[in-house]
Amino acid sequence: MKQIIIAIDGFSSTGKSTVAKQLAKHLGYIYVDSGAMYRAVTWFAMQNHFIKSDCFHIQDLISSLYQITISFKFNEALGFAEVYLNGKNIERQIRTLEVSSFVSQVAEISEVREMLVKQQQKMGESRGIVMDGRDIGTVVFPDAELKLFMTASAETRAVRRYEELISRSEDVSFSDVLKNVQERDYIDSHREDSPLIKAEDAIEIDNSCLSLEEQFNKILQLVENKLKECN
Ligand code: DC
Repeated sequence: MKQIIIAIDGFSSTGKSTVAKQLAKHLGYIYVDSGAMYRAVTWFAMQNHFIKSDCFHIQDLISSLYQITISFKFNEALGFAEVYLNGKNIERQIRTLEVSSFVSQVAEISEVREMLVKQQQKMGESRGIVMDGRDIGTVVFPDAELKLFMTASAETRAVRRYEELISRSEDVSFSDVLKNVQERDYIDSHREDSPLIKAEDAIEIDNSCLSLEEQFNKILQLVENKLKECN
């Protein structure tokens, strides 16, 4: 059976990765969280002191990009692939609110995008992949057979992100999380290079009022229809 590319884009915390993981597992496809790659570069910049609370040495980060190798390794126990930076597992480190507060600025840098997009396109060469992010259906895989664009209100998304951070014992306030969600929405959709926009041929899914099961079933139906069409 011919395998397809499923591109899932949308604002932060719209549940892209949850449904992408479910689909990949169901179909036996590879799942790639492209946001994790931007987070890994952000963490690298923080570790090297290119990013501090009051300044961001963009040129230093750009000239150090060649030192970055990002890879994914499947973790059987977790059921998804964790992200590694230069051989070190940084899955936990990249999920903090601190990384979230800088990642949109890093994702605005064209040199960073160029490097990561190339790597993402390579991962999809044999198709059979579900990738989520902001520019997957528009830039990374404009020829993806199925493109989804996920939406939900900022408040709904902030509640989800807040609960996730609290469950990991992060000391955060709901208002800070909501502010971060709104700021990232703005930067991600207004940047010059590859802003978050819905691809013309993407199907919009607003999951504000959908349970995880309802969402999965709705999307699986779309995938099955597409597979029938392609085979
Ligand atoms: O999906 P996420 O919240 O982990 O993504 C982190 C940031 O990375 C997000 O604010 C925007 C950026 N990003 C991007 O610009 N392009 C992608 N394909 C994926 C993420």
